Amino acid sequence: MDWNTLEEACRSCNRCELGRTRTNCVFGTGSKTAELMFIGEAPGEQEDKMGIPFVGRAGQLLDKYFEAVGIERSEVYIANILKCRPPQNRDPLPAEQDTCIEYLRGQVSLIRPKLIVCLGRIAAMRIIRPDYRITLEHGQWIERSGVAMTAVYHPSLLLRDPRKREDMLVDMKEIKARLDAVRASASGSR
Ligand code: URA
Repeated sequence: MDWNTLEEACRSCNRCELGRTRTNCVFGTGSKTAELMFIGEAPGEQEDKMGIPFVGRAGQLLDKYFEAVGIERSEVYIANILKCRPPQNRDPLPAEQDTCIEYLRGQVSLIRPKLIVCLGRIAAMRIIRPDYRITLEHGQWIERSGVAMTAVYHPSLLLRDPRKREDMLVDMKEIKARLDAVRASASGSR
């Protein structure tokens, strides 16, 4: 499936109840050729209003980390497991994730990122391992089918618990170092 077909299918999706309550489908944002992809959980209120992931308070904090380590939003791709907002920002239901993850799979196979970063526990449990423990394992990398993956704290957790912000900075610096290394090895092999 090509990008436009995938995006169109997602924007008109009514495969679960969330299609009825959304204002906008939040498909994703950034570069379709990004080496680095961030995957969050689901849109919140602001994201639902604007149709863009991570634009609310959590997103603004994420932007500060991008700035601190020298990553531009436009050079990475940011998407969520769910493309529609769950009412009152409740956790995505397993059935909603099962239905919606096909769109994310499509995005990943078209973008073909070298690095995938899960934002928060819910994304990590879906993408990396169902028993993923974010407090113990954040910032550790695994390799799967040639893609290096990690998870970091969700920025909304960092809003609630600022003591975790230092760990986040360490993890984000490593993400940027890996992005630089991926690019250096790609330009060396050209
Ligand atoms: N939280 C998420 O997981 N995704 C968003 O897009 C916004 C907040």
